[in-house]
Amino acid sequence: MKVEVRAYAKINLMLDITGKLENGYHSLFMLMQSVDLYDTVKVSLTDNGKITIICNKDGVPCDERNTAYKAAVAFYEKTGIVNNGVEIAISKQIPHEAGLAGGSADAAAVIIALNKLHGTNLSLPALFSIGKAVGSDVPFCILGGTCIVQAAGGVVSPVEPLKACHIVLCKPECNVSTPKAYGDYDNAPHIRHLDKEAMLHAADNGDFEMICSLCNNVFEQVVDVPQRASIKAVMRECSAIATCMSGSGPTVFGIFENEKDAQLCKDKLAEDFKDVFICKPSECGCEIVN
Ligand code: C5P
Repeated sequence: MKVEVRAYAKINLMLDITGKLENGYHSLFMLMQSVDLYDTVKVSLTDNGKITIICNKDGVPCDERNTAYKAAVAFYEKTGIVNNGVEIAISKQIPHEAGLAGGSADAAAVIIALNKLHGTNLSLPALFSIGKAVGSDVPFCILGGTCIVQAAGGVVSPVEPLKACHIVLCKPECNVSTPKAYGDYDNAPHIRHLDKEAMLHAADNGDFEMICSLCNNVFEQVVDVPQRASIKAVMRECSAIATCMSGSGPTVFGIFENEKDAQLCKDKLAEDFKDVFICKPSECGCEIVN
């Protein structure tokens, strides 16, 4: 039996860091949104006792470094089920190391697929606890939609779904190391923290205009992405109502009410950048399609 899952990317409508935990991780306040750019993850049970990863993209490690591999290991460890073998085929569309949780989405998809294939019917907290062992964004990617996410990513609270809109994603060709981004945050002499209470209120009420006006990410203060300002300028020229960096970057997103504006923006950015996408909010993080 094979299960096919769509694993959706995410953006951070707000990301603030609220403290440092004893294990070195940071506690966060995030408003996260799934978007309908997705990887397709096909999971099937085999009988060779191995975890095999197949991926259509060069440069993605197909061994124990892959988050999908880690997710399978965590699933079998936490459930105590014996792993007789599993094959995971990933067709990637989400650019990797982009701040869009591509790896976390794939991991979430594997957990959802194995839960289905083994008929384990795990509760959401049990799925989250497996996800947390793989990465901070995995619990959100399991649930998805529009959520406030706190602690080190493990506390996920759904809020009103974001109003229908058009979102342009643009990933400049530079790499950002997430651990380095957190390190740079730790070493920054001063950080302007964000109005989390106002965002919580806006998110709870589904106040789209307010959410857009509060869109912000503290990593923009410490992560240097040379093209960020010019990407935002193009987005603003095309009438974006919000522009912000996602996660620890480097992807920048713009939110548009009007589809034509978003399309024009995508076309303009595509003249200079390879990874430009137009998408919509998604109400889930993973979707079993087969
Ligand atoms: O969990 P994830 O793979 O996204 O984390 C990558 C790295 O980012 C961690 O090893 C840690 O250095 C840093 N991190 C952190 N606090 C978080 C999430 C990530 O310090 N809440």
